Parts: sequence; C-alpha cells; structure tokens
Amino acid sequence: MGGGYVLFGSARSGQMIMVALVLMVGSFYAGSIFGNNSPIYISQPSSSNSSSSSPSQSGPSNFANKIELTYRRTSVSIPESGVNVCPLKFNEYIPCHNVTYVQQLLPSLNLSRREELERHCPPLEQRLFCLVPPPKDYKIPIRWPTSRDYVWRSNVNHTHLAEVKGGQNWVHEQGQLWWFPGGGTHFKHGAPEYIQRLGNMTTNETGDLLSAGVEQVLDVGCGVASFAAYLLPLGIKTMSFAPKDGHENQIQFALERGIRAMISAIATKQMPYPAASFDMVHCSRCRVDWHENDGVLMKEVNRLLRPNGYFVYSAPPAYRKDKDFPVIWDKLVNLTSAMCWKLISRKVQTAIWVKEDDEACLRKNAELELITICDVEDVSKASWKVPLRDCVDISENRQQKPSSLTDRLSSYPTSLREKGISEDEFTLDTNFWREQVNQYWELMNVNKTEVRNVMDTNAFIGGFAAAMNSYPLWVMNVVPATMNDTLSGIYQRGLTGAYHDWCEPFSTYPRTYDLLHADHLFTHYKIYGEGCLLEDIMLEMDRIIRPQGFIIIRDEESIVSRVRDLAPKFLWEVEAHELQDKYKKTETVLFCRKKFWAIL
Ligand SMILES: *[C@@H]1O[C@H](CO)[C@@H](O)[C@H](O)[C@H]1NC(C)=O
Ligand SMILES: *[C@@H]1O[C@H](CO)[C@@H](O)[C@H](O)[C@H]1NC(C)=O
Ligand SMILES: *[C@@H]1O[C@H](CO)[C@@H](O)[C@H](O)[C@H]1NC(C)=O
Ligand SMILES: *[C@@H]1O[C@H](CO)[C@@H](O)[C@H](O)[C@H]1NC(C)=O
Ligand SMILES: *[C@@H]1O[C@H](CO)[C@@H](O)[C@H](O)[C@H]1NC(C)=O
Ligand SMILES: *[C@@H]1O[C@H](CO)[C@@H](O)[C@H](O)[C@H]1NC(C)=O
Ligand SMILES: *[C@@H]1O[C@H](CO)[C@@H](O)[C@H](O)[C@H]1NC(C)=O
Ligand SMILES: *[C@@H]1O[C@H](CO)[C@@H](O)[C@H](O)[C@H]1NC(C)=O
Ligand SMILES: *[C@@H]1O[C@H](CO)[C@@H](O)[C@H](O)[C@H]1NC(C)=O
Repeated sequence: MGGGYVLFGSARSGQMIMVALVLMVGSFYAGSIFGNNSPIYISQPSSSNSSSSSPSQSGPSNFANKIELTYRRTSVSIPESGVNVCPLKFNEYIPCHNVTYVQQLLPSLNLSRREELERHCPPLEQRLFCLVPPPKDYKIPIRWPTSRDYVWRSNVNHTHLAEVKGGQNWVHEQGQLWWFPGGGTHFKHGAPEYIQRLGNMTTNETGDLLSAGVEQVLDVGCGVASFAAYLLPLGIKTMSFAPKDGHENQIQFALERGIRAMISAIATKQMPYPAASFDMVHCSRCRVDWHENDGVLMKEVNRLLRPNGYFVYSAPPAYRKDKDFPVIWDKLVNLTSAMCWKLISRKVQTAIWVKEDDEACLRKNAELELITICDVEDVSKASWKVPLRDCVDISENRQQKPSSLTDRLSSYPTSLREKGISEDEFTLDTNFWREQVNQYWELMNVNKTEVRNVMDTNAFIGGFAAAMNSYPLWVMNVVPATMNDTLSGIYQRGLTGAYHDWCEPFSTYPRTYDLLHADHLFTHYKIYGEGCLLEDIMLEMDRIIRPQGFIIIRDEESIVSRVRDLAPKFLWEVEAHELQDKYKKTETVLFCRKKFWAIL
C-alpha cells in the first residue's frame, strides 16, 4: 500500500481524553492502492493501541487538527492547526435534515401536507464548522458493479431496514456486508421481473420500457434504489429520492451502492427538477398520499412528466377492494381524468397512466372547473423553494426527442435558445469538455472503476456530464438556483440533475461522492456572502466527498490560490495543473484529493 499511518494525540482542553487522528495517506496519484478488484480494507493499525502521542515511524509531518465540536461563527476563522474535526457521533451529519431540529419546528409546519419531511436548514450559527469524520471501521466503499449487490456494513451501520424489510428482500445482513438481493416491497421476486412486467404493460407485451420511450425515470420513495439499479442495463437513467427519516437511511444505502439518489420529499414545494423532464414517474408503495389536498401532488407529477410520459402506481388502491382503498382509487381516477391522463393498464397490483398531450381536453376540463390552467410565466422559473401549484401546465414546446441517447448528448437542446445559449456556444462547450475530461482522467491517474458517484456542482449545460457519459459512472448535474436556468437543457440531452443553492448544504449523506467538479462555482458565489463563503463551500464539499475522492476546481487565479492555501487545513492534498480554458487561454486547475483519515 502506498502510505503509512500517522498518529497523533490532541488533548482537549484540560481533559485527559486523548484522541488520535489516523491518517491513511494514500500516495497521491498512485494507482497502486486502487489496483485490485477487491475492496481495500483499512483495518485499525495494530500500533494504535495506546493514546500514544508520538507520531509513528514513516509518517510525514503531523496533522494537528483538533477534535472539537465547532459551530459556524459569524466570521469564519480557520485555526492554525487546521479545520477542527467534529466528534465521532456526527459522522452522519446532514445539516438540513436534522430530525431533532425539525421536531422543534413542528408547530409551524403543515403536517397534513407532510412539510416535516422536506429540507429545513438551521440558522447559520447552528451549523457545524468542523470536518465530518467517518464512522468507526469505515472502509473505502466496494466498487461498482459489485456494490450493486454488496456494501460494507460498517459504512452504513443501520439495521432497521434489514429488520423490517428483510422479508421483502430489500437488504440482508451477511457477515461484514450488506447484501441487496434486488427486491422491493412491490417486487419481492426481484426488480428485473417487475421491470419486464412494466415493459409488457406499456407495450402490449411487445417490448420493454426503453421501446416504450422511457429513458429518464423519477423514482418516488425509492427504498434502496434497486429499481434504478436494474433499469441501468436498459440504458435508463433514474433519479431516485426518498425523505430522510429517523432510522431508515434509504438514500445512504443507495449512494453507497453507487446508484444515483438524493434526499428529497414531495410535500409542499416543487421538486428541484425542471418541468417536462421525465418519461416516467414511478411510485411503488412510496407512501405518498396522492389523492389528498385536491391532488396537488399529482399536479406536481404532471409538471415533471413529459407529454406521453407514464405514471406508474404500484400500491394497494390499485388492486385492493377493501377498507378505504376503493374511495382512494376513485379519487385518483377523478384526478387523473381531470388532468387528461389515460389509464392504459391495470393489472397485478400496478396501474399505469399516460399523460396525454391533449390541449383541447385540458381547456374543456378547465371550463368545467375540474382543473385550473397555470399562468404561463410560472412555468419558466427554476423550481427551487417554489410552493406547489394546484394547476396544470399547457406545454408549449413539443419537441421530438432525438432517436438515440448518443444523439441526444450531442444535439442542441432547443430550450437553450430561450436561455440565450447559441448552437455554436453549445458545440464549443461539448467539444471543450470532451477534451478536458480526457485530460482529467490522465491527471487523476486512477482506474476508471474508482470513480462512480460524480457531481458537477455548477453544471451549466451539462458538457462535463455528457463527456463523462461513456464511463461506468453517473453524474449529478447541479445548476445553482441563482444561475441562469439551464437544467431543462441538461434533461433534454438525456442527462439528469437538480437545482441547488450552495449557500445551503446539499441533501445528501456524508461521504457519498467520488468526484466533485467545480467550474467557476466559487466566483459565482463570491457576491452572496453569509453561508456561502469559499470556506463554507469547501467544508460542504469535504462533507460529501468520500475519503480519497477528488475535487477538481477551476476558477479565477485569486480563488484558486486561496483554495490552494486552505486545502491542507481541510486535509486535502492538492496539485495544480495548467490546462486551457474554452477560449484557449491557460487556466490553473486544482486537483484536490481528500485524505483518508479517521478518528481512533
Ligand atoms: C481496473 O480495475 C478492474 C477491476 O477492479 C480491473 O479488472 C482492471 O484490470 C483495472 N485496470 C487497470 C488499468 O488497472
Ligand atoms: C496492544 O495492546 C495489547 C493488549 O492491550 C497488547 O497485547 C499488544 O502488545 C499491544 N500492541 C502494541 C503494538 O502495542
Ligand atoms: C440537531 O438539532 C438539534 C436541535 O436544534 C441540535 O441540538 C443538534 O445539535 C443538531 N444536530 C446536529 C447534528 O446538527
Ligand atoms: C395546510 O395546508 C392545507 C392545504 O393547503 C391548508 O388547507 C391548511 O390550512 C394548512 N394547515 C396549516 C396548519 O397551515
Ligand atoms: C454499529 O451500531 C451498533 C449499534 O448502534 C454498535 O453497537 C456498533 O458498535 C456499531 N458498529 C460499528 C462498526 O460502528
Ligand atoms: C412479458 O411478455 C413476454 C412475452 O411477450 C413474456 O414472455 C414474459 O413472461 C412477460 N413478462 C412478465 C413479467 O409478465
Ligand atoms: C394495447 O392493446 C389495446 C387493445 O388491443 C389497445 O387499445 C392499446 O392501444 C394498445 N396499446 C399499445 C401501447 O399498443
Ligand atoms: C368522482 O367524480 C364523480 C363525478 O364527478 C363524483 O360523483 C364522485 O363523487 C367523485 N369521487 C370521488 C371519490 O371524489
Ligand atoms: C444569463 O443569461 C443572460 C442572457 O440570457 C446573460 O447576459 C447572463 O450573463 C447570464 N448569466 C450568467 C450567470 O451566466
């Protein structure tokens, strides 16, 4: 292995508790520690017995970061010794999904609309400002495709799902591992069979989902995301989401497996995805009460679906004739027909509707006051913190999708013209990133299998993700809500992503991405101040990147040099390389890599 352990102690003010940070210093750019198929064990070094404060044999300089619960103060100052490390118990810190904090907000939340499931960021001074440590016995994650079926137990040390969902074949314990047999509440017999059945239902048994035009899916209440995992062989990209509740950690499992997912809930606000982005919205016992509140959540599904997109509903009201289920079913039928959806199939516990692109029908139902048509100007706003609207859009841009995904990646999405991005600019961007991505791989010098979960933190029109598409990884394209809204263009290219505001932490667990790409992200946030200073964003990057993960930063010289100075304090290794920018000018690009360290 390309490194040694560094031990050091740091006594906390007066107390005799000695703690040690163990640094597994993977040699930067050394392929060696990644070079084999089996996951790397980082066992506790045998020499770490005592609270000895003497640095071990081979280590380079000491890392002096203190372990200390530290809050974000009004002015950010980083200790000489480096950014403090949060105590071990904060190893799953997700700032905007703190169940205890939400408890305090309950009186002001609309519980009948499940507002408590949504993001709630605490005020700045209640945010931590320390590095989130990995849990005890954390190991470098098992790599895709093995990770589809197995992940390290100690990385997601939560037994609840195995206990309550074991019988439904979600996840089982197997020694040091979690095993995912590919089941779900509604597909005990495995996702592949269920997916085939959905294909049969949408094509009258002649084809699969892809031939029914499904390329981008939104999976509501995704569980451990087995549905998404088994759609991949068809070339279908799925955005999976589920709320964070007290003990289930569904999204943590999904991301640990290497499957595209984020924490989210459909309750009172629009989902952070653009209109008309998905060919299918899927709910299999997703625990969403679609029929409540005049079907406002169904209207959100209607917003997200493309014309001729499917809503797949596998839940008791679709097949059970007892209790309240028939009433719920009737309500769903009324709501869907008011929106001019057509029920195309209902069998074996699943109902499928298609959102027909029928303007005449919508206008008629609006006249009958069965629905309200949305104001046009609403439609073009980035859906970030936008309250749900109880209305239905009339879609104006009925563009044909190009026939194949490769065509989609490189053909100019017409929605970009409205955003002021010309076809020439698009082509330039596409070619530029293709070239850059080749260089990135060379400079990272790791096996392609080491990079699975990728985020482009400022994705613009998705050029980076398009160039990455031929590798066995997925990219979460983030378009800052304060930028021009180009996310619909990204979806039109067949890629996926979400809106986000980097003045707040992202809705994901710690240690969930292998690579973060930040193209002029810091410059953009320079003017926004509180909560999104360079240090705040670096801290958030450190939270969500996995140990040994890469952070590639391109920005103005002044910013690049500040990041370079600060990186060691975040326990990042940093290398600078000169690359060309889009206009062939030389630009410094930082390749940072988070060290693998742990509290002992
Ligand atoms: C990359 O890793 C895979 C699987 O771990 C292995 O089969 C392959 O030989 C590796 N490739 C290189 C270039 O090291
Ligand atoms: C670690 O501690 C155990 C018992 O506490 C002892 O037997 C062993 O020799 C120690 N190892 C080292 C490397 O100090
Ligand atoms: C969660 O919120 C509670 C109440 O505001 C707070 O005491 C606690 O420190 C928070 N936990 C984390 C991990 O931020
Ligand atoms: C919750 O939302 C519903 C539907 O918008 C509304 O009728 C109700 O008054 C709200 N309740 C509270 C407590 O705000
Ligand atoms: C996993 O959690 C259990 C109970 O919460 C705890 O006893 C155990 O030490 C944890 N294991 C690891 C490796 O953290
Ligand atoms: C789907 O249809 C094919 C025949 O077209 C059939 O062989 C297959 O068993 C069906 N799958 C399911 C899950 O019903
Ligand atoms: C499936 O068959 C039914 C009846 O034969 C027909 O009404 C329907 O349009 C067909 N659907 C598709 C997707 O071909
Ligand atoms: C569905 O609509 C019909 C006709 O408008 C109405 O009679 C019925 O009460 C509605 N059902 C429910 C459950 O709302
Ligand atoms: C947003 O678009 C306008 C023109 O459509 C352009 O002038 C402006 O620079 C863009 N803003 C950003 C942040 O790219």
